[in-house]
Formats: sequence, C-alpha cells, structure tokens
Amino acid sequence: MNTVKIAPSLLAADFGNLQKDIEMVNQSEAAWHHLDIMDGLFVPNISYGMPVVKAIAKFAKKPLDAHLMIVDPDRYIQTFADLGVYLLTVHYEACTHLHRTIQAIKSSGMKAGVALNPHTNVELLKNIIGDLDLVLIMSVNPGFGGQSFIPNTYDKIRTLKQMIKEHKAAALIEVDGGVSMENAAKLINAGADVLVAGSSVFKSKNPSGTITELSRATNT
Ligand code: DX5
Ligand code: ZN
Repeated sequence: MNTVKIAPSLLAADFGNLQKDIEMVNQSEAAWHHLDIMDGLFVPNISYGMPVVKAIAKFAKKPLDAHLMIVDPDRYIQTFADLGVYLLTVHYEACTHLHRTIQAIKSSGMKAGVALNPHTNVELLKNIIGDLDLVLIMSVNPGFGGQSFIPNTYDKIRTLKQMIKEHKAAALIEVDGGVSMENAAKLINAGADVLVAGSSVFKSKNPSGTITELSRATNT
C-alpha cells in the first residue's frame, strides 16, 4: 500500500503571518507545499504572484508544488524554475500546445503536471499520459478555497488510474478542492496519490494534527 502525500494549500493560510504557517507545514507530516497561482483571467480570482512565491520559497523546507491557474502559462515556466519550484502544474484548458508546454517544463528541470477542470474528461490525456509526472483532478471549480467537493471526482480518479496502468505510466494522481476527513479515505481508495487540502487543514483547531490524520486516512 502506498502512503498518500498531503499537500496543504497555502491559499487558506494566514497571509498576515505566512512564515508561521509555512513553518507549521515544515514541521508536519505534509509532503509538499501547494501554491495556487491565479491571474483573474483563467479563474475569477487573483491570488498571489512571484514576490510572494519567492518569500514562501525562502522559508519552505518541503518541495514546492505550484498549481498555475493562468492563461498562457508558457510565459512563466522559466520564472517558476528559477524560484525553485519542484513540480509545475498547468491547466489542460489553458494550453493550446500542451505537449510543447510539458516538454518546456521538463527541460527547465521541474516535474510536469496537468490539471483538469471538473468538466474535462480524463480520456483527453491518453496521448500524453506517458510524459506526465502528475495529473491534478480538480474536485471543485478552480478559483477559490472552501468550496464543496464534486462527487464525480471518484469516477474520474478510477478511470485515470486504469489509464495510467494500461500505459505503464508513472503519473501520480493529485486531487484538489474540498478535500477533508469526510472524503480522504474514499479518494485514496479510488487511487489518489496526493491530496491537496486548504480549509480543512488551516481552519482546523490543530492544523498539523489534521495533516497527520489525512495522511493516515485508511484506504479500505
Ligand atoms: C482552488 C485551489 C485549491 C484550493 C483548495 O482553485 O486550486 O488548491 O486552495 O482549497 P480547499 O481545500 O479549501 O477546497
Ligand atoms: Zn490548487
């Protein structure tokens, strides 16, 4: 049995005291720091940009998992590589030449991921699955933290897991949006390898304890 990775989303952290929340993640059982970059065009919200990522990178001790919710992400691949990002995920819906974008991410030394909106069929990744390090399945419409989990995610994970197996591919499956102890075990059971959690971690009384609980959600 593989242990699931937990990637707390800093979007739900205290922006007045980011260092404190980053250090909580450093000390916790989290695997990665999840960074949500929004441009107000691809999604109806703006989160934070390069100076904040630079500040996060200064204190973060775990790999940076950056989720770009921006149009034309090719423009910033090298910038994120220079900032020390470990894994860069772009949206399927934002890339006209996805294969080229993925190769560019890898040539810049980062791992490459593709995110799918809730309406996007996982079958669309058939011809590129072997090139991906990760597929991020959005379980809410991207743009905001604290939204309700969309249940068709379970089927998408199962279909994707099957596709990865058939292609003998190595891509990890990450699930992002509305993840909590209510659905963690079921997501792991369906085949999720990485769980992103914002509100359920940072709004809990004991964020570090919640990360531990999520990472041990039993997958039976
Ligand atoms: C939403 C972001 C998520 C978000 C998750 O567009 O991609 O990473 O921060 O937040 P919760 O866990 O609160 O749904
Ligand atoms: Zn995200």
